[in-house]
Amino acid sequence: MISSHRKKINLLLTLTVAGALISQSFNIQQPKPKKLMNIKVFPSTATFDEVDHAMDQFKVDLGVKCNYCHAPEKDNPRKMDMPSDANPNKDIARDMIRMTEEMNKKYIATIKHTESDTSKLQLVTCNTCHRGAPKPFAKPLPAPQPPPPGQGPGQWPKANGTSGK
Ligand code: HEC
Ligand code: HEC
Repeated sequence: MISSHRKKINLLLTLTVAGALISQSFNIQQPKPKKLMNIKVFPSTATFDEVDHAMDQFKVDLGVKCNYCHAPEKDNPRKMDMPSDANPNKDIARDMIRMTEEMNKKYIATIKHTESDTSKLQLVTCNTCHRGAPKPFAKPLPAPQPPPPGQGPGQWPKANGTSGK
């Protein structure tokens, strides 16, 4: 029983290693690391994956899709041209990143926490203000409604008709 389990694990390991070697030697599924073309605010050391991760967060925090800040490709409007600055919301977002960073560095990080305060240092994020909407709500948000029995957690209301595609 145990030994047959072992065998299966060994086989799996062998297959995985063999697969990795084969795909390496034939360059299968080994796309070149993607390059960043037009980065002005994120640190120059940022990797493509790190930027990509930040983008997913922007999408959620503002309740929008990628084309809210990115322009379509000239030749193929169905694809997006990520390095292009043709969409003015991209430069607004750059200023928002600078602003958020300054708030954290200059004001939030200097807040002293007493020893008895066990809460972690909280940083300002896009979500602190935007709460899932491209323009922050001007009025206080209603408290989230308790979910109907048997359903997920309550949701903040979404702004009407503001999210792009
Ligand atoms: C709120 C605005 C906003 C949204 C939404 C957004 N982006 Fe971005 N994106 C930016 C900004 C600003 C930069 C440039 C950052 C800089 O200059 O440091 C950028 C840069 C990028 C880059 C790097 C391009 C280059 O220079 O090579 C990629 C890739 C990218 N975004 C992909 C995405 C994807 C995919 C999505 C959707 C999941 C997305 N973005 C959603 C604002 C946004
Ligand atoms: C301190 C609050 C605050 C934070 C933090 C903040 N924003 Fe904003 N943002 C605003 C306000 C307020 C506006 C609306 C300004 C106006 O249009 O009058 C806005 C507008 C925008 C807009 C333009 C929306 C539109 O349709 O005109 C974008 C894009 C944006 N923010 C992106 C971001 C991103 C990305 C982050 C995080 C890196 C961020 N913001 C963090 C307050 C904030």
